[in-house]
Amino acid sequence: MTHNDIKWQQHDVNVAQRQALFGHQSAVIWFTGLSGSGKSSVANALEQALAAQGKHTYLLDGDNVRHGLCADLGFSAEDRTENLRRVGAVAGLMVDAGLLVLSAFISPYRSQRELVKSLIPPGKFIEVHIATPLEVCEQRDVKGLYKKARAGEISHFTGISDPYEAPEAADLVLDTSVTSLEDSVQQLLALLKQREIIR
Ligand code: ADX
Repeated sequence: MTHNDIKWQQHDVNVAQRQALFGHQSAVIWFTGLSGSGKSSVANALEQALAAQGKHTYLLDGDNVRHGLCADLGFSAEDRTENLRRVGAVAGLMVDAGLLVLSAFISPYRSQRELVKSLIPPGKFIEVHIATPLEVCEQRDVKGLYKKARAGEISHFTGISDPYEAPEAADLVLDTSVTSLEDSVQQLLALLKQREIIR
C-alpha cells in the first residue's frame, strides 16, 4: 500500500486551541504490566481524580479494545504489535483532540512500547510500569486466566508462557501489592503537575 497520494490535512482548530479551551495539556499516560497487576484499577482511579478536577479524559483498556477495534487479533507477538499500533494511532488522535488519555495494556515488549511512543508527539508519552510481582498477580488471578495458562489451556500467556520485558526507564514505577490506590493516584497527579501537563 502506498500513501504517496494522500497528504496530511491541516485544520483550522488545532491542538493548541483545544488545550487552551480545556485548560490542560493533552498526553498519554501509558500503563504497562502483567495481567492482574492493577493497570486498569490504577488508571480508573486516576481518571476519577482527574474528572473530579474537571479534566477531559479517556481511558483505553485492553480488555475493552479487544471487543471491538482489535476483536480480530490474538496474542502472538505479531498480533500484540498490531493491537498496540492501532491503540497508539487512536491515542495519537485523542492527544490531538486535547484529551488526557489513560491506557491499560500489558504491552509486553519494549519494541511495542517504543512503537506507540513514536506515534505520540514528544513529551506527551508518559510510561508507568505497574510492577506488581508475578506471584501476586497469579495469586489474585481475578479472571482465572493464570490457572488456565498453568493448565496449558491458554497459550502465549504473558509471564507464564510468553515474556514480559520490564521498562528500563519508566517515568513512574508502582507496585500495587505495596502501594495503595490513593497513594498511586497522588504520585501520578504529582508527576503530571511536575511535567506541567496539569496545574
Ligand atoms: S497486549 O499484550 O496486546 O498489550 P492486552 O492488554 O490488549 O494485551 O490484553 C490483555 C488481556 O487479555 C489480559 O488482561 C487478559 O484478560 C486477556 N488475555 C487473554 N489471553 C491472553 C494471553 N495469552 N496473554 C495475556 N493476556 C491474555
